[in-house]
Amino acid sequence: MRLDKYLSDMNLDSRSNLKKAIRKGSVTVDGQMVRDPAMAVPDGAEVTYCGRPVRHETFQYYMLNKPAGVLSATSDRRQKTVLDLLPGERRTDLFPVGRLDKDTTGLLLITNDGDMAHRLLAPKSHVDKVYEALILGRVGSREIEAFRSGLVVDETFTAAPAGLQVLSHPEDPEEEGRDLSLVRITIHEGKFHQIKRMFLAVGMEVLTLKRLSMGSLLLDPDLSEGECRRLTQEELDALENLIMKN
Ligand code: URA
Repeated sequence: MRLDKYLSDMNLDSRSNLKKAIRKGSVTVDGQMVRDPAMAVPDGAEVTYCGRPVRHETFQYYMLNKPAGVLSATSDRRQKTVLDLLPGERRTDLFPVGRLDKDTTGLLLITNDGDMAHRLLAPKSHVDKVYEALILGRVGSREIEAFRSGLVVDETFTAAPAGLQVLSHPEDPEEEGRDLSLVRITIHEGKFHQIKRMFLAVGMEVLTLKRLSMGSLLLDPDLSEGECRRLTQEELDALENLIMKN
């Protein structure tokens, strides 16, 4: 593969800027400065751009533990986005797979693999997403049954049957006697504010919301909020298996 294509596939800059950078001497191949954009990069060669190693990959996959206060978007003029949390020199074609609300935390997959994203998000793929939420109110059998049987959220949206499990009824440190419920919810849709709207439809409020998993992909408990890492080959294989079956 030509050196300029090798670098531009990684979306580090426009092809013409990368050609200029090569001519200026910003690129090395196996430790040697190369000024010819047409140079054929040998298989397995070590390439650096502005002193940083660049490995050619068609697709990249990151798991992010999204913190609250960050937008699930690719760019924003004023606010920080989830892409700002990726380390180092990042390619420009990455995007989050689906959206979490600004105040929602937890698992977010970031990739440039549009086909995988589309298959994971397509309603007919029925990929389960599991969330943990702190609810203002006492969630009980009435709400569990309402979620299980397909909740009418409003005149435009009836949710597909969803799983709702009560984990505990924690004490409220701020207001004695206030009913709180820690719950786990499983949905396979991804409508705007879906979980918050489902709880509002049963007269309750979501205080905090965190995504724990998406299909076979589980939030790594070693990732603190704001941290990300590449998916492992096993995680990637499991996701690919899942979407092939659906
Ligand atoms: N449901 C919501 O209400 N918000 C999210 O961020 C995700 C699911």
